[in-house]
Amino acid sequence: MTPTGPDDELEGRVAVVTGAGGGIGRAVALRLARAGAIVVVADRRLAAAEQTAADITAAGGQAQPMSVDVVDGSAVASMFDVTVTRWGALDILVNNAGVVTKPSPLASFDEDDFDRLVAVNFKGVFLGLRHGLPHMIEQGRGVVVNVASVSAIRNVRNLGPYAATKHAVVALTRAAATEVGEHGVRVNALLPGPTNTPLVVGREGAETGAGDEFAGQVPLGRISQPEEQAEAALFLVSDRAGFISGSSLLVDGAMAYVD
Ligand SMILES: NC(=O)c1ccc[n+]([C@@H]2O[C@H](COP(=O)([O-])OP(=O)(O)OC[C@H]3O[C@@H](n4cnc5c(N)ncnc54)[C@H](O)[C@@H]3O)[C@@H](O)[C@H]2O)c1
Repeated sequence: MTPTGPDDELEGRVAVVTGAGGGIGRAVALRLARAGAIVVVADRRLAAAEQTAADITAAGGQAQPMSVDVVDGSAVASMFDVTVTRWGALDILVNNAGVVTKPSPLASFDEDDFDRLVAVNFKGVFLGLRHGLPHMIEQGRGVVVNVASVSAIRNVRNLGPYAATKHAVVALTRAAATEVGEHGVRVNALLPGPTNTPLVVGREGAETGAGDEFAGQVPLGRISQPEEQAEAALFLVSDRAGFISGSSLLVDGAMAYVD
């Protein structure tokens, strides 16, 4: 059974979740909304963002869908401007949007795939921090969760460049936490293990078998559900985590420590 936190602890807070049209980001958006947050649901795929926002609204929450590509600096800056203008603040930012490319050894890794990984997973998080933190610094409060991966600390075969971008996300998290702590802003990384999302099991529900392959590498014997990652994200953005900053929270069923 998935544990649940208090259901009104984010009442009135304004959250932006990137990549919230599917997978972990969608689960995070729904969970933060259920805890009372107003959620800006940002995704490159507008229809998917609209679906998540509609589901939040149908459940009695407040949400605004937005079409945003996290590799586009001016679009990211405008996402925060629109959020603050319409909702009055930027209390919570979850830099979740990320991609994975075809697994391959470095000796034959596709250069375009490398560029895409760096652009979305690394620069996308940088741009979220670059344009989101000034609002939080000005407010004197805020909390950020950057979604990295267990591959930030454990080698996952044939995913070297993906893992490198996730190491980079952890480095950015630590740097940001030390820079903005004095302004009352916390920044942490969430490191999911393999999770049941289209990124792992394939879009349109088409099983690729990758989920089964990963399950065998997890001591708990299964991959996680997006809702389990969302529960950890909720904890990190809540006041219950008030003294946690610069941390990397592994939610991986102990996969990181398998030899
Ligand atoms: N699923 C896993 O097993 C797993 C494990 C560890 C870490 N993660 C990380 O969790 C995050 C979410 O992964 P997921 O499994 O939910 O993936 P997903 O593919 O299911 O969902 C990602 C969402 O991000 C959106 N997106 C992609 N590129 C974007 C861009 N440039 N701008 C805006 N939105 C964009 C997609 O449209 C999609 O809705 C990623 O950062 C991923 O690296 C996932």
